[in-house]
Amino acid sequence: MEFNVLKGRVSDIDAFAHIIFCNKDGVCLGDHSNLQELLQPFVDGGEFGTKFGGNLYAIAPASLSVKRLLFFNLGDKPTNDSYRKASASALKLLREKNVTHVSLSLSGLDPSARRAVVEGVVLGDYQFNNLRSETDQLPKSLEHFSVHVGPASEPEVVRWFKIAQGTLRARDLCQYPANIMDPTAMAQQAQRWGEQFGFKTEVLNKPQLEELNMGALLSVAQGSQRPPHLIVMDYQPASPSGKTFVFVGKAVTFDSGGLSLKPANAMAEMKGDMGGGAAVIGLMTVLRDSSCNHRVVGLVPAVENMPSGSATRPSDVVTSMSGITVEINNTDAEGRLILADALTYAARYQPDYVVDFATLTGACLVALGPKVFGVMGNDQKLVDEILTAGQEVDEIFWQLPLVDDYNEMLKSQVADIANVAGSRWGGTITAGLFLQKFAKDYKWAHCDIAATIFEKPDAYRPAGGTGTGVRMAMAMLDRMT
Ligand code: BES
Ligand code: MN
Ligand code: ZN
Repeated sequence: MEFNVLKGRVSDIDAFAHIIFCNKDGVCLGDHSNLQELLQPFVDGGEFGTKFGGNLYAIAPASLSVKRLLFFNLGDKPTNDSYRKASASALKLLREKNVTHVSLSLSGLDPSARRAVVEGVVLGDYQFNNLRSETDQLPKSLEHFSVHVGPASEPEVVRWFKIAQGTLRARDLCQYPANIMDPTAMAQQAQRWGEQFGFKTEVLNKPQLEELNMGALLSVAQGSQRPPHLIVMDYQPASPSGKTFVFVGKAVTFDSGGLSLKPANAMAEMKGDMGGGAAVIGLMTVLRDSSCNHRVVGLVPAVENMPSGSATRPSDVVTSMSGITVEINNTDAEGRLILADALTYAARYQPDYVVDFATLTGACLVALGPKVFGVMGNDQKLVDEILTAGQEVDEIFWQLPLVDDYNEMLKSQVADIANVAGSRWGGTITAGLFLQKFAKDYKWAHCDIAATIFEKPDAYRPAGGTGTGVRMAMAMLDRMT
């Protein structure tokens, strides 16, 4: 998609179709008053309606350089998320008409609504067609998108656009199936993007992980033919003035459950079990271009969890890098094992803050549903920053308590700790408590983004991995400068 930011007059916009948002009464927002008369008969006749999504596609007057106008009703009391959905939905209408040169104006919108509109276009236009060979019948993607900035500043708009594109990179990583996007492919993609987007990448291989005594991570990978990696990414700002953040992302490129095998109907979507790692890699790709002033390290433990003759057996005991011994009673609780060693490794950066993203528990989906993410941590201020940053960009996080008494449930008969609780209750919290044992000596928060694996698409999120975390993390980094 070619992206343009326009100043000057709306009448000179060079696009095929121009999107105009209207309030529930059919009044065009921004400096479109001269076009109101075109829409008004349809408002008066009731065809435009008063609800979100009502629209009119019309021939533009000859005085404009655009050829078509799409009037789109925002409905009553639009929120930022309705703006995001509105631009995504308007775009979808145009896409069905094979329109690929689109513009819209941000005038008349407040700053957070302007941001949401730009995001809606980028996120809503996303399609993953890299693995299709017959592409001529597919809906076209946008070729040119122009925003008329109105009162917004150009760099501001470009920045939102780039951050949204980072989300699309995370999505791509998730959409690829596990026979293609295995740990090595993920590491290679991180390396390529590191060169392109200004961060250093170091990929640790199995012998190095052995050298580091990452027994917990290695135990997950040992049933797979595909070797594990720890992907280490490092962004140093040109003039550092902020803090040191480490982001850790779970990347199980396929989670079969291991010998504690998942049922067939719950397995295919587990190609998306690297969504946490995808979010961290996606975030790394936007730091330089959004002039982040923090040092940011991304750690992505990448493994495949498979059953085989060399796989971990339920009841095996392994020694993690921290020295803590773990009894693996269920090989399907593998995410916490790879995160444990990555969290121990994180300490070497003496970080001010560590945040992990992980598709960690089905229990989180049961508790919070498909659009809300769990967060817990050992520092309330950090958790609060995540909650607020999430609100800013409509990635909704909800705090769960790390109840000390529940540590009881993680006791092992033979080792320091068991990887699963004896009961199903509070499964998201007990997973968080497990991680807390390894998140030592720094402020830490854990984001359970199991809900990033989406069953059905919506206006601006595809089925499969949605790329959740990139926009929230960037908003959090911005808040904490
Ligand atoms: N990757 C899964 C969690 C998951 C499930 C994410 C569904 C998204 C959608 C994780 O590795 C897992 O299997 N967790 C187990 C933990 C249990 C064995 C304690 C679960 O949630 O059942
Ligand atoms: Mn699992
Ligand atoms: Zn998993």
